[in-house]
Amino acid sequence: MQQTILVTGGAGYIGSHTCVCLLEAGYQVIVVDNFSNSNIIAPERVQQITGKTFTVHPVDICDRKTLAAVFAEHDIDAVIHFAGFKAVGESIEQPLNYYHNNIYGTITLCEVMAEAGVKTMIFSSSATVYGMNDNVPFKESAPTSATNPYGHTKLFIEQILQDVCIADPEWTVTLLRYFNPVGAHHSGLIGEDPNGVPNNLMPFISQVAVGRLKKLKIFGNDYPTPDGTGVRDYIHVIDLADGHVKALESTGKQKGVAIYNLGTGHGISVLDVVTTFEKINGIPIPYKIVPRRPGDIASSFADPKKAKNILQWIAKKTLEDMVRDAWNWQQKNPNGYA
Ligand code: NAD
Ligand code: WQD
Repeated sequence: MQQTILVTGGAGYIGSHTCVCLLEAGYQVIVVDNFSNSNIIAPERVQQITGKTFTVHPVDICDRKTLAAVFAEHDIDAVIHFAGFKAVGESIEQPLNYYHNNIYGTITLCEVMAEAGVKTMIFSSSATVYGMNDNVPFKESAPTSATNPYGHTKLFIEQILQDVCIADPEWTVTLLRYFNPVGAHHSGLIGEDPNGVPNNLMPFISQVAVGRLKKLKIFGNDYPTPDGTGVRDYIHVIDLADGHVKALESTGKQKGVAIYNLGTGHGISVLDVVTTFEKINGIPIPYKIVPRRPGDIASSFADPKKAKNILQWIAKKTLEDMVRDAWNWQQKNPNGYA
């Protein structure tokens, strides 16, 4: 029997790529998104890529009544929950917005799911829950903490979902801790389209390459890393999306909560990303070294063995694939979906 998956935030960066993988794996997809950080064109492009149609509900997950109507209209088997705000700096300026949207949104979603008898959820958590800890690679059992409201929302939601599973053993929740998602679908039809000046490294580099920004600022070259710049675990968004399909396949065998890192297990420096982008795409990326960004750690990368052993998932794409696909998307869509 074909399963129906409700994807909250399905018009966003990771959500749209996950919809592609779900449709290609034979799932039926329903998207709920309020388009606060995305564009209706993204799901249209997903339909173009896959040749499959699906319903998109322009609904805010904080709006209980409208959300309940979506569950009443469709026979939903499981929810993949991406909807939320994600900018660290903005969360420091607008903590209440972040707590309201991310936490109240998730509580409302859980209540509506429980009422509808849908008790399987895959949640977008983040490597940000490993906090300022520099003890890489991170295992899922590493201590967790947060240093900003965005990170707190991820930690609190992880706790809320664990408590829900303890109270009601019918629930199955998978917490996926993403490392640094980058790149785009190879078609160049969907990709990352940040509002304003990008906070994250790869979209910043792509916008320098396309001429929208003049110069990359590298935040510090005095970290205790091989070349002094920050080290991260960049993961191709298609590998990440595939991790959701694998997690979904595994929920039948699972009881309660399971936590998985989704990363490659490889630490890549800022300079590695810049030089690989230049080499693969043949475009110089002018940069200057500036002071460290407050809140950044030297190194963050995953121990991804648990996902390999239990979900049979590994990241397959290389850094070369990531920079090529990021540039392909940016080149074909210099102003994003606008
Ligand atoms: P995104 O902003 O592109 O996607 C989020 C989507 O949710 C957007 O389409 C937005 O319009 C929608 N949305 C937000 N609030 C909503 C609400 N109240 N009701 C309905 N829709 C709402 O972000 P993304 O990069 O695709 O991230 C998806 C999830 O993964 C987020 O929860 C994010 O915190 C998490 N995550 C992202 C990263 C990353 O670096 N991109 C890393 C770790 C975790
Ligand atoms: C990567 C590296 C920077 C921009 C963030 C969130 C995290 C998660 C993923 C959601 C670092 C350096 C960056 C620039 C730079 N999101 N850099 N110049 O900080 O690892 O993680 O996104 O959950 O919560 O904090 O990612 O892409 O911002 O930075 O030198 O203009 O690139 O210092 O070393 P980060 P990033």
